[in-house]
Amino acid sequence: MDGGKKLIELKKVSKAFGDRSVLDQIDLEVFAGETLVIIGRSGVGKSTILKHVAGLLFPDDGEVWVEGQEVERLSETQLNELRKKMGVVFQYAALFDSLTVFENVAFRLLRDFHMPLDQAVRKVEEKLDLVGLKEVPLDLKPAQLSGGMRKRVGLARAIAHEPEIILYDEPTSGLDPVSSEAINDLILDMQKKLGVTSVVVTHDMHSAYKVANRIAMIYDGKMIGSGTPEEIKDSRDPFIRQFVTGSVEGPMPIR
Ligand SMILES: Nc1ncnc2c1ncn2[C@@H]1O[C@H](COP(=O)(O)OP(=O)(O)OP(=O)(O)O)[C@@H](O)[C@H]1O
Ligand SMILES: [Mg+2]
Repeated sequence: MDGGKKLIELKKVSKAFGDRSVLDQIDLEVFAGETLVIIGRSGVGKSTILKHVAGLLFPDDGEVWVEGQEVERLSETQLNELRKKMGVVFQYAALFDSLTVFENVAFRLLRDFHMPLDQAVRKVEEKLDLVGLKEVPLDLKPAQLSGGMRKRVGLARAIAHEPEIILYDEPTSGLDPVSSEAINDLILDMQKKLGVTSVVVTHDMHSAYKVANRIAMIYDGKMIGSGTPEEIKDSRDPFIRQFVTGSVEGPMPIR
């Protein structure tokens, strides 16, 4: 996929929260049609990267480009247009507690795409089926669902409007192995059947190896390495090795 069209690009993006620097001149690119998986320890800034791509946060320094546009320079209307082409699966489901399953999944279909209700019902049922929630009553509230079910409702909501770009933040965390595998298959299907471009943040190396065209590792606010799943598996970088093998032998390598 290298050499294809760059759909997402972070150019030397820096971001601090207060005096805590989180992203330090990070460069990242995602080509059209590929699935890039971002790995890295808790707190290194993975979710922060996704929020920059989604236009929910803006860099202190550097630039974020999506589909040939610099996100920070877009007007509110243009940003909304760009967001219509994106689906975001938030790390903690982030469902609207007062809305039903149907209203959550259909939210953008109704608000942003003005879809007629009967059509929205069909879409919602189709997407819930895709995430393995065919049987779930549409009128339940999030509080009546298990954590894993909420997660999958969040996924259904992110893909409901059939976006070109999907950002998945820990899509399989907290799911049982069978549901996780179904989500991995869903991510692969979205890419193969619909040509979606995806960025997946995960701690789950099985999932990373399965869905990634490329894997990028973030450490200390920087991208310290990227490669195909095979290259990452065989990496000699001690940080990457330690992360992907989960090894706790010996001291943490000094960088
Ligand atoms: N809105 C915010 N205000 C202040 N600090 C923030 C904010 N968002 C993130 N941070 C801080 O930035 C750092 C990176 O957070 P981020 O959520 O991107 O990490 P992460 O790599 O996704 O971690 P995890 O694997 O645990 O989800 C953390 O130290 C976090 O406390
Ligand atoms: Mg996170």
